[in-house]
Amino acid sequence: MEVLILPSGREVCEQAARIIAHLVGARPGAVLGLATGSTPRPIYAELVRRHRETGLSFRGVTTFNLDEYVGIDATHPCSYRRYMAEAFFDHVDVPAAQVHLPNGMAADIPGECDAYEAAIGAAGGIDLQLLGIGRDGHIGFNEPSSSLGSRTRIKTLSAVTRAANRGCAPAGEELPGHVITMGIGTILEARRCVLVAIGAHKADAVVETVEGPLRAFFPASALQLHPHATLLVDEAAAGRLALRDYYRSVAAAKPAWQRED
Ligand code: GLP
Repeated sequence: MEVLILPSGREVCEQAARIIAHLVGARPGAVLGLATGSTPRPIYAELVRRHRETGLSFRGVTTFNLDEYVGIDATHPCSYRRYMAEAFFDHVDVPAAQVHLPNGMAADIPGECDAYEAAIGAAGGIDLQLLGIGRDGHIGFNEPSSSLGSRTRIKTLSAVTRAANRGCAPAGEELPGHVITMGIGTILEARRCVLVAIGAHKADAVVETVEGPLRAFFPASALQLHPHATLLVDEAAAGRLALRDYYRSVAAAKPAWQRED
């Protein structure tokens, strides 16, 4: 796993945007796996800026988001479809037909999950999967104890995650208890994974991901199995890493030909 420690959250997001922009520039038909949560918002803002100011085009790009709540539609303030439209899709030139999120309103949820997996396969697989991380180690909505081989399916949210994410819900309204999420196995098939973590409240999750044991109880640790996973973290999120000096030295000594741009 490559661990890149950057001075601030702003630089984490700029670097993530740079990696995505570099991929899309080199491969205009790239398939992007996208994430929600508060952490990636500035990444989308930077990609929108590049679209407006440098002409970066997403016309040929296909996207698949990690997850969506069950039982709410795109008008709901917690909807990830709505989040993605507001943060990214409405401001760039990606055609709507090339945008995919799980449909949490589907009458046949298992059928929807199978169709989502099939659509990823039909697009040729995901070139780059962007990931955030929950404090309990979830990626997408793969809560602790998720099978490391899991595919897109329905999951029940933990009380911890519901509490962490309830900010979007109108006063007095509970967050849905169920979600559809890509599985860990689905995520691991992406050709590259880029996980972003910012802030001291993510430091425990980061150390478990990188230096903890591989285990379903901490889903992000599955990235230890991935041949090309990059963690972009700020100083605060890197604060508990035992080998942080080593990771810094690796980054400093990275051969020019290995750099992103
Ligand atoms: C949600 C999303 C995850 C995200 C996590 C952390 O649970 N499903 O994909 O990584 O939130 O969000 P934040 O970046 O707001 O801490």
